Amino acid sequence: MLDRPADAWSDGFQIRFPAFAMDNTEFPAGERGAFSDDALRSPTLPARYYVDPRIYRRELEAIFHRGWVYVGHVSQFARRGDFLVTQVADQGIFILRDDEGELRAFYNVCRHRGHELLQDAGRLSKNIVCPYHAWCYGFDGGLRRARNSENMRDFDPARFALEAVRLADCAGLLFANLDPNADDFAALYPGLAATFAAGLPDLDRLGVARQFDYDIAANWKVVVDNFSEGYHIPVAHRQLSRVLDIGRGNRSRVEANYAFFESLSGAGYDGYRVEPGSPYRSWTLWPNTCLLSLPGCANLIVIRMAPNGVGGCREHVDLLAPGGTACGEFEAIADLFASKFNAEDIAIVESVQRGLGSRGYDQGRYVVDPADDWYSESGLHRFHRRLLAALAGA
Ligand code: FES
Ligand SMILES: [Fe+2]
Repeated sequence: MLDRPADAWSDGFQIRFPAFAMDNTEFPAGERGAFSDDALRSPTLPARYYVDPRIYRRELEAIFHRGWVYVGHVSQFARRGDFLVTQVADQGIFILRDDEGELRAFYNVCRHRGHELLQDAGRLSKNIVCPYHAWCYGFDGGLRRARNSENMRDFDPARFALEAVRLADCAGLLFANLDPNADDFAALYPGLAATFAAGLPDLDRLGVARQFDYDIAANWKVVVDNFSEGYHIPVAHRQLSRVLDIGRGNRSRVEANYAFFESLSGAGYDGYRVEPGSPYRSWTLWPNTCLLSLPGCANLIVIRMAPNGVGGCREHVDLLAPGGTACGEFEAIADLFASKFNAEDIAIVESVQRGLGSRGYDQGRYVVDPADDWYSESGLHRFHRRLLAALAGA
């Protein structure tokens, strides 16, 4: 029996709609009328939300330049000087373990003339040296040396430190926030760490064992939409639907900025047999991260949909396993994800993106079953409510 913190779950499946500050929002209307906060009545988000570059730019400002976004896992920074370059939407940042063992994040840009400082990932022995004119920064971001700057007037190196980015660690998962005034991660995602502790007691032993990156020809929200609902699973994912016992929901927790579901497994298929009734866990984190833990040895699949223009996104996947090495069912899990259901999902979302640009489509409906959250489209409606609240400034 797992050690389950009492506050990690709601009792059973239930649909709750966390309140968002929507006061100044006019719900957007399309050909089927205005979006409603009642999922049972509402038309879906109008198609222009997926194809209009003005809405995309607003999303970058209102969501990705202000919110907490998954950027990596602590296991990627085992030693002093370990760094990782990544993106928060259109902004390049890097994360670094400093001399005191703390993790820090900075914009990946030199304060001299704007060259990017680091690439990919690696280990720095000492200092961060810009490849353009060799300005040199300490692990604390301070400017240590600017070549040939002795004769410059009114040059205060203290004013040219690297620009810091906030970083939060939730059960080893790292989240960055570009907004210095944003609320703390723990305040915005209350109880999330408890759901990890309850669902994944081995989480602190997990490390990144494999990574996948996909360039997808679909707006980031189309991919998040698809991860937000299980309605399509029995139709679109033959093998995955054998790993899941469709309709056997177990426990859930739904908050304003995340949802957590635990369902029970079926028997699997040849190549990935599982003990029927084993837990299958999933999380969706506002705005663009989904996590899955499949039956078998401890594992966590962390999936981030990074916006890349209005009609594209990059899907980054960190596949975690104990000690960062393949465990018993690891290859079967990696294969189920990479060659089966994620490949199936990519074909789906690219088709949907083409459809959203069609003159024959504007809005559909949410198929919602009040008794069954995960296998209906309740989570999809919640995501769209959260999106509209964010675009309205909430
Ligand atoms: S741009 Fe970095 S040293 Fe010149
Ligand atoms: Fe899917």
